[in-house]
Amino acid sequence: MVVAKRKYEIIDPRTGKLDRRIFIEQAIYDEEMEKIFGRAWQMVAHESLLPNKNDFFHSYMGEDPVIVTRDARGKVHVFLNMCRHRGNRVVRADDGNAKNFLCTYHGWTFGSDGRLEYVPGEQEAYYGALNKEELGLVEARCETYAGLIFACWDKEAPSLEAYLGDARWYLDTQFNRTDAGMVAYGPSKWMEPVNWKTPVDNCSDNYHVPISHHSSAYVKEKFLGQKMRTMAMQLAIPNANHHVFVNGHSFTFQVTEGNEPRGVRMYKDNAELYMRYYGETHDEVERRLGSYRANHIQLGNHSLFPNGVLGFRLALPRGPLMTEFWHFEMVEKGMPDELKRVLRQRGAANNGPVGLNEQDDIDNWRSVTESSRSPIARRTGQLLTMGAGHSGRHDIWPGDVSERYISENNQRNFYRRWLEFMNADSWADIPLEPMTAKYEGDAGMG
Ligand code: FES
Ligand SMILES: [Fe+2]
Repeated sequence: MVVAKRKYEIIDPRTGKLDRRIFIEQAIYDEEMEKIFGRAWQMVAHESLLPNKNDFFHSYMGEDPVIVTRDARGKVHVFLNMCRHRGNRVVRADDGNAKNFLCTYHGWTFGSDGRLEYVPGEQEAYYGALNKEELGLVEARCETYAGLIFACWDKEAPSLEAYLGDARWYLDTQFNRTDAGMVAYGPSKWMEPVNWKTPVDNCSDNYHVPISHHSSAYVKEKFLGQKMRTMAMQLAIPNANHHVFVNGHSFTFQVTEGNEPRGVRMYKDNAELYMRYYGETHDEVERRLGSYRANHIQLGNHSLFPNGVLGFRLALPRGPLMTEFWHFEMVEKGMPDELKRVLRQRGAANNGPVGLNEQDDIDNWRSVTESSRSPIARRTGQLLTMGAGHSGRHDIWPGDVSERYISENNQRNFYRRWLEFMNADSWADIPLEPMTAKYEGDAGMG
């Protein structure tokens, strides 16, 4: 194994100081596109977005536009949206159904399985010398977990199962509960003038919640009957909420007394429906996840390395100082329509440029990114010391579990994961944690 010479040292292990250059420098950003987005598994779509043969959905891996297709035999593929002739985009729509993709430049035509099927003047202009077999759309590796479609450009990368590793033990409790699976609605899309890493690191920063989201929490308590969480509640020990880093991915989760729905999605107007639905699906969920996870583990905020955040949401890099967000609302397919409707409505009220929570976050993230531009401010790094030395292994919960719910352990680890990708010559240099989680139930990869 060739060990890469370390190039980046961005976080001081002693002081927790983080070098702000990684948020603004174009050269670092360009390297991220290759070393992180060119290597990591990334969420690109959900199976429910392309249910029929020849359906397609247009998505992105980093800055690369990709077409997610279901071919005529039902197999899902992910292709670079680039004609093999001169590089024109072959798909201009967000989604649809098409047996073929005709390039609007010179008419090369590709099948939904990516094969180059037709070239105008193939015999005449090219004298029959083109090898069409070799000129199909550039294809990424594609695997699914619980209906979520992931793709990866790197042939050396491990399987998606190994890439998620023990993170799946937690993810299952939100994405893999029922036989019917989930449905993704959306996405809503918007741009924010922030570096892509800031919202990803923010996903398990629950320190900010009672402060940044005070006014929206106040509104939700007053009008929707959702109990406000104070800083004292967040800091209390013991605490039902926890903070954990697993194989590159960051999570918060709650250990509940019994089979309870995720509190954050429960409001006055859906509580009864929600509780009834949870009761009705209990046996099925227990069969799939085993008794302990079905009854006691609820996934909270989380991010999947590199840029999957808060459920099925993508933080797509658009230069060092801009991120395009795609937010999908995910609901279980078997939920009653009325419950689906209120969940979608509440999701839309929270997320997106006019979302109650989102507006608070946007302002912080923009300002944190902006600070990194000033050479004077850059002399003083971000401070990520909270809870250093206060995390470890737990008998049941996989990963590096913080002693407290409020900690920056996940953030330090996220930037260390960034270093592991950025300082590696190839996947042979990128460590993976062994899978040790014990899975009860028959859910599998879904
Ligand atoms: S660029 Fe697509 S046919 Fe020429
Ligand atoms: Fe927030």
